[in-house]
Amino acid sequence: METQTQPHDEASLTAALETLRAGGVVAVPTETVYGLAGDATNADAVASIYAAKGRPSHNPLIAHIADLAMGEHYAAFSDMARALADAFWPGPLTMVLPLEEDAGLAPAVTAGGKSLAVRCPRGALGELAQQLGRPLAAPSANRSGHVSPTTAMHVQDDLGGRIPLILDGGTTQIGLESTIIDMRAAPKLLRAGALDIQAIEAALKRPVAVDLGTAENPVAPGQLASHYAPNALVRLNVLPGDVRFGEVYLGFGKHRLTGQPNLSAAGNLAEAAAGLYGALRDADARGPASIAVAPIPQDGLGAAINDRLKRAAVAPPK
Ligand code: TXA
Ligand code: MG
Repeated sequence: METQTQPHDEASLTAALETLRAGGVVAVPTETVYGLAGDATNADAVASIYAAKGRPSHNPLIAHIADLAMGEHYAAFSDMARALADAFWPGPLTMVLPLEEDAGLAPAVTAGGKSLAVRCPRGALGELAQQLGRPLAAPSANRSGHVSPTTAMHVQDDLGGRIPLILDGGTTQIGLESTIIDMRAAPKLLRAGALDIQAIEAALKRPVAVDLGTAENPVAPGQLASHYAPNALVRLNVLPGDVRFGEVYLGFGKHRLTGQPNLSAAGNLAEAAAGLYGALRDADARGPASIAVAPIPQDGLGAAINDRLKRAAVAPPK
């Protein structure tokens, strides 16, 4: 299959919509990362998503909705969940809620389970859900286990030849995936992400428990210890003086080396988040034995950056 990349405009949105209506899949940008979208009510479309990514069938997908009203049709929202939707949608927040079982979603979206992850995204993916009038199942548009794509070229590198169409909306604004919170009972963080947990706690006026799972017993399968991984080994919290010969060094702020990339010379976490996956891919493309990364502070977006770096640093099972 030949993969076409088209600029995100009126014509390509129409082409994407036609593909989705016909049960096909399309890679489209969101404010976080690129997603690989298919009609969440079409079992063939959802099967194509899993196949294109090489994703294990037990790992459920996020249903992307156009607005809260569409969400209410497919999942049961508590008052607290509605409050978060009001505060943060459209935006980088995913909520796990009880599935409305007779609403018509393809069972593979939830991997056969009775909970549904829902998110109302910004960007082309939200526009397409609106125009289709149905939710779009969309994981990050990378090969399963690999680093998430933040440009159309990243998608092409991972999924070229496996999908018909990529909408090119440039580099995604945030660069890290959405924050996932389980709202079926007391709020529980399942994946640190683009929306920092303090903002959620402030909106709820209560603390949010953290349940990021373990390698053996992941809560969200994306919480597997090895994930978001480049091919090279990744070493964390490395100071410039400890960088090894032949290593690529990703600096941050004042921890930097001349001639090596810096995630943010200004020490800005949003800038580092936006460039992180691209920097990992670029470093990997140079074929080093390992990639060393400077220490990143843990506050705000730093929590999500460090979470991803930790997973990138775990070698996948061979
Ligand atoms: O920013 C994002 O969230 C991007 C864009 C495209 O929206 N999507 C994304 O999807 O990161 P994905 O599939 O790469 O990661 C979704 C994570 C996976 O770890 C999956 O296991 C988890 O969400 N998940 C999906 N449904 C779930 C459910 N019902 N309960 C718990 N975890 C769930
Ligand atoms: Mg992913």
